[in-house]
Amino acid sequence: MTEKDIASFKAWFKNYVGSFRFPDEKDRKNIALKEEHTYNVCRNIVLIAKGSSLTGAKLLLAESIGLFHDVGRFEQYRKYRTFRDSVSVNHAAFGAAILDEEKLLENLPEEEQDIILSSVKFHNALAMPALQGSDARLFLKLIRDADKLDIWRVFVEYYESPEEDRASAAGLGLPDSPEYSDEVLACVFEKRIAPLSILRTLNDFKITQLSWVYDLNFDESFRLLREREYFEKILASLPESDDIARASYLLRDYLEQRLRNKCPV
Ligand SMILES: [Fe+2]
Repeated sequence: MTEKDIASFKAWFKNYVGSFRFPDEKDRKNIALKEEHTYNVCRNIVLIAKGSSLTGAKLLLAESIGLFHDVGRFEQYRKYRTFRDSVSVNHAAFGAAILDEEKLLENLPEEEQDIILSSVKFHNALAMPALQGSDARLFLKLIRDADKLDIWRVFVEYYESPEEDRASAAGLGLPDSPEYSDEVLACVFEKRIAPLSILRTLNDFKITQLSWVYDLNFDESFRLLREREYFEKILASLPESDDIARASYLLRDYLEQRLRNKCPV
């Protein structure tokens, strides 16, 4: 991949997003949320890739995956007016199909095309799939980390803002009530990620987002997570209880351990 390729991808993306026009302010806000998210994920993935000493064409490849990872979100919203995959489409597979249809990648070497498509397609899978090829796995891990870091930002802003300023589709339609589910909290104690299908309230979603730390791969991602204080901010928005305090201790301890041990990926 060359600088020229990434420049043309960025121009295409800007134009593509610009084609989603809505008269309603609420809809425009939801589209803007995903556009801003995309650009932030691009910045995150470059930081993480540089932190893993990637340079040249590989760095550009990482950036293009950031740019395309959520390309399916716009058409998903236009068709279904939601970002909930469970009631519409899997936006990741949908995005990979759009890239294919648009024949955007056809001038790239086949290996790079495959890496972009598989990274887009599986960036949202609950667990890492067993992909063939060490580069395919590397880039998928990069986008999964870069994406999580910005989803944390999106939700920290969402939880901190008054209801009327929130992008309506961000909260997945979950009620912002004081309850949380023991089943979701149990996932934190078992060091696994709760599937979206068991979430009942916005607090469940917050707890699940905290558990994503178990699926983070790179030293730079852990560093950025701590530097940006996303954990502290999400934890501050949860109700106070002994269970939440225990979960919070465990999560912070896991983060500190990963920062100290610098686990190899
Ligand atoms: Fe996504």
